[in-house]
Amino acid sequence: MTTANSRESEYAIDPMFLDRWSPRAFTGEVIEEAQLLTLLDAAHWAPSSANMQPWRFLYALKGFEHWEEFLSLLVESNQEWAKNASALIFVVSRSFNGARSEGRPSYTHSFDAGAAWGHLAIQARMSGFYAHGMSGIKHEEIKEKLGVPDGYRVEAGIAVGRIADKSVLSERNRAREFPSQRKPLSEVAFNGHFVDND
Ligand SMILES: Cc1cc2nc3c(=O)[nH]c(=O)nc-3n(C[C@H](O)[C@H](O)[C@H](O)COP(=O)(O)O)c2cc1C
Repeated sequence: MTTANSRESEYAIDPMFLDRWSPRAFTGEVIEEAQLLTLLDAAHWAPSSANMQPWRFLYALKGFEHWEEFLSLLVESNQEWAKNASALIFVVSRSFNGARSEGRPSYTHSFDAGAAWGHLAIQARMSGFYAHGMSGIKHEEIKEKLGVPDGYRVEAGIAVGRIADKSVLSERNRAREFPSQRKPLSEVAFNGHFVDND
């Protein structure tokens, strides 16, 4: 068992997995492009099926070109707190293998892109940042405005920043600004056949 960040694992895992969480209170400070590229470098070392590396990352840094446009591509409820992040990322994945003309669909592109996000989130924590995933994004508008071609799936957004005191948040967000817990491992890990416990 490991205890960290008001969380407790059942087995002795590295504390980093408990330290990573998704705050909404960010300082709003500007970061260097190299600091963000460090996180994206870790992300793109994720494993992927046949090493296809289907992930693509579109990013904007606070205070620079594209920031306001990226922010406007989040749903309102995410804009409210993510405006204080230092970087915004959209993760896109390539949904076909080989040449586009071959039309060979990839089975694992989203799974692979998810692995890359996991790497990024852990590297963020190791680099003194926090990364907060967002499904509340304007998927179609992102495709259109950022020039994402057909065959690429807009997966999720990520806000990256340094953590701030929760007083910067609205009352609603302040009330949910704490590291969440998890289901018991036995509800999600089955030795053998699937257990339908829904
Ligand atoms: C793919 C993905 C999409 C998410 N979408 C949102 C979102 O749109 N808005 C939000 O405030 N949090 C969002 N979250 C944060 C989750 O609610 C959070 O990761 C989950 O509750 C577990 O908490 P933890 O990350 O603090 O451990 C998202 C997380 C992931 C991984």
